[in-house]
Amino acid sequence: MAGFPPDFTWGVAASAYQVEGAASEDGRTPSVWDTFARAAGTTADGSNGDVACDHYHRFAEDVALMADLGIDSYRLSVSWSRVVPDASGRPNPAGLDFYDRLLDCLADNGISPAVNLFHWDLPQWSQDAGGWRERDTVERFADYAQIVAARLGDRVGTWSTINEMFEHFALGHVTGEHAPGLTLPLDEAAGVVHHLLLAGGRAAQVLRERGRLMGITSYAPARPHTGSDADRDAAALYDVLQNRLFTDPVLLGRYPAELEPLVEPFVEEGDLAVIHTPPDLWGVNYYSINSVRAAEGPVPLEVLAPQGYPRTAFGWAVAPEGLTEVLTTLHERYAEHLPPLVITENGCAYDDTVDAEGRCDDLERVVYLDEHLAAVRAAMNAGVDVRGYYVWSLLDNFEWAEGHTKRFGLVHVDYATQRRTPKTSFGWYRDRIAASR
Ligand code: NOJ
Repeated sequence: MAGFPPDFTWGVAASAYQVEGAASEDGRTPSVWDTFARAAGTTADGSNGDVACDHYHRFAEDVALMADLGIDSYRLSVSWSRVVPDASGRPNPAGLDFYDRLLDCLADNGISPAVNLFHWDLPQWSQDAGGWRERDTVERFADYAQIVAARLGDRVGTWSTINEMFEHFALGHVTGEHAPGLTLPLDEAAGVVHHLLLAGGRAAQVLRERGRLMGITSYAPARPHTGSDADRDAAALYDVLQNRLFTDPVLLGRYPAELEPLVEPFVEEGDLAVIHTPPDLWGVNYYSINSVRAAEGPVPLEVLAPQGYPRTAFGWAVAPEGLTEVLTTLHERYAEHLPPLVITENGCAYDDTVDAEGRCDDLERVVYLDEHLAAVRAAMNAGVDVRGYYVWSLLDNFEWAEGHTKRFGLVHVDYATQRRTPKTSFGWYRDRIAASR
């Protein structure tokens, strides 16, 4: 495999609620994830993000680990309810101070931040007013973008607005597995789709004055479970739902025709022009491929892990060729409308433990990451413009409904002591980065 260009961006990614902790400090108020995860029976081990990795207090130690890795960039998110704690919309200076300290520390270590505004942690005060079902939330989000951009904009090179809209819409508002735990009928949930996209567009207009703008979506190939026409149709529908629904409007300025009737009742004149604020980069979060079969129900399909692949501890298929496929599909699908790509998340969960000698030998992760980097390189060799790669994640962290049971880190975290132990994959990634300089 040929190496990566010397200006390729190497990074790690994380999000506020998954690592910060300090849930009630310095004026922060609950987000929907605080409310959801504190309720009984919502996470696999009953854990929540009250403390998480205590990154709020230990960020300097974590940035030192990043510096040791030699990364160029850290992809992080801002906690909206830390920065805007109540419905008055007034900023919380103490909350903003944390991001000041973090960005300064990154700058001191030569690491450039890629800052995302929303990684699923809607302030509870906004949810109480209807959350993403309400169009007003779009304006609240644009106000929040202004506040963050005004205070942190001088140190942020790359901005993004909303992480993985599909998952927040589907898991948070249709299946109820994630916060805010709603199980809305599709015709109502379609409002969430449109308001997320519109909020992304409004915030993009604010942020693109201040730096590079990067879209972020998950993208995953959907394979028909069998050769039947019904399964083929189900897989095609899933591709539209997960992949095109959140990408076509931003890059092409229109909804996929198949889903237009669903969102149409929420669309007002001029909305699509706002959503279609062209980004400078397009971020892809990739983990696995899906097998889809036809099923009864309001969404007439079922998503399964495909057979015949090794699996991670999450049960997800290890399918690096899917990453090459995703990158080349985007390249072909959006052609001149597609900005350069970045892998904004890629990684895997395994049941990592620290042995008596203090070692955490996660060879499966090394293999996973190595194969996926080769898959990125293969797409580049085929002519796709890829500018960077972020591992999810530096640290083991709070994995949403899975709580602390799924470990994605290059660094093991002992949640009882907050001790950080770099895994074998940490050294491997450091060497890979060094070799590409
Ligand atoms: C995507 C999400 O953006 C991130 O928050 C999550 O931890 C990873 N996938 C792994 O599931």
